Amino acid sequence: MKEIQLLKQTALALMQGQTRAAQDPHRPGWHLAPPVGLLNDPNGFIQFAGRYHLFYQWNPLACAHGAKFWGHWSSADLLSWRHEPVALTPAEAYESHGCYSGSAVDDNGVLTLIYTGNVKFTAGRTAWQCLATLDEKGDCQKLGPVLALPEGYSGHVRDPKVWRHDGAWYMVLGAQDLAGRGKVLLLRGETLQQWQLLGEIAGSGLNGLGDFGYMWECPDLFRLGERDVLIVCPQGLPAQETRWLNTFQSGYFIGTLDYPQARYTHGDFQELDLGFEFYAPQTTLSDDGRRLMFGWMGIPDGDEFYQPTLAHGWIHQMTCPRELTLQQDRLLQRPARELQQLRGAQRRLQGAAQQLETLDIASAELLIAPEGALTAHFGDALRLDYRQGELRLSRRNLRSGQQEDRYWLGALRQLHIFCDRSSVEIFINDGEAVMSARYFPADAPRLRLEGEAKVTLDYWRLEPGV
Ligand code: FRU
Repeated sequence: MKEIQLLKQTALALMQGQTRAAQDPHRPGWHLAPPVGLLNDPNGFIQFAGRYHLFYQWNPLACAHGAKFWGHWSSADLLSWRHEPVALTPAEAYESHGCYSGSAVDDNGVLTLIYTGNVKFTAGRTAWQCLATLDEKGDCQKLGPVLALPEGYSGHVRDPKVWRHDGAWYMVLGAQDLAGRGKVLLLRGETLQQWQLLGEIAGSGLNGLGDFGYMWECPDLFRLGERDVLIVCPQGLPAQETRWLNTFQSGYFIGTLDYPQARYTHGDFQELDLGFEFYAPQTTLSDDGRRLMFGWMGIPDGDEFYQPTLAHGWIHQMTCPRELTLQQDRLLQRPARELQQLRGAQRRLQGAAQQLETLDIASAELLIAPEGALTAHFGDALRLDYRQGELRLSRRNLRSGQQEDRYWLGALRQLHIFCDRSSVEIFINDGEAVMSARYFPADAPRLRLEGEAKVTLDYWRLEPGV
């Protein structure tokens, strides 16, 4: 009954709001954004029976966080996406305050979703890890909870990422222990219905980490080359001069997971994206063996609710799909190679930065090789400066009006930039680092370069749907 009611409300929100959202000049041309309402984490990213599926945390009923649904897109090529029927609605008692984040697996030919049923009480909350299956028509059948809150943890236990290893299922969960420390739990299941907690494999106070945050969200653990990579979002890291500057962080460890001992040894925490908007990423292994990742181009509790898209009834978007590879003890992130198919004709500009013409960056890809100091203005709302080993991305905070800066430190050889209306993704030195940001220029966005540096710039207009 509640499900029908929620679906009716969703249909009405779409009928009333979709046109207004589609007409927003800030709306992306080729990034994924919610048809109406609020989008946050990518969920259930999988290539299943040859087709990519990307689910997402969605509140179709308001531009606010709340009882989340799972929206669902699918695509044959990572480029053109089709919205599928709503996958999960928060209709049951065990998910009354949201079908929270989770993952998808191929269970013997059945596309199966594992997610968190979030339940809030007047005081406190609990969390159930739940299963659902999806048929070819996109219809979802809920199988209910398969794991209650484990003992020794607060109500913050969520975001199951499940994979198969050596004939068994494994799950990582983000958690908060009773002392208020963020942790990642490892579980094992012979089937998806029965889980055994093996222990804590990483977290605040573990593996040589001191106090490292009060809650760890959205863990993702996968093999890359000869290493086990743990991506996670620790909350509560204090801002430092040039890092950890967003409200919450998203980063990774590189290490080795000893499955029988449930022990993970790892190196330092490294941020995944040094820009303003990036959180809760999720990866999958494609059929051709690539580790692909989407992130949420948003941050909870920042200045998100001052973004002008609210006037058009939608907020937030995904990043572009990215390919992850390992280079020694660092993850490299490159835009998925499929994106090259969006390219129109190529133009090459060369000369002193300040002498180059301004470029239309409403939907564009740029490859810039600077020799020396450089400033790039993205419309009137975002600015990138490079001098003496420091790359700085600056803009005004939408709430306070104060300038804020994000940094990458190193010798700059190359900038590979993707622009889509109100977003930029800046890949540095062929994937060594990335800075992602939303920005809301008053006019059609143009790029203007400043400085005497000699620059070689390749430019493509990106043409979605071609
Ligand atoms: C991360 C997160 C998850 C949770 C979901 C709720 O952004 O807080 O931990 O499952 O969003 O929408």
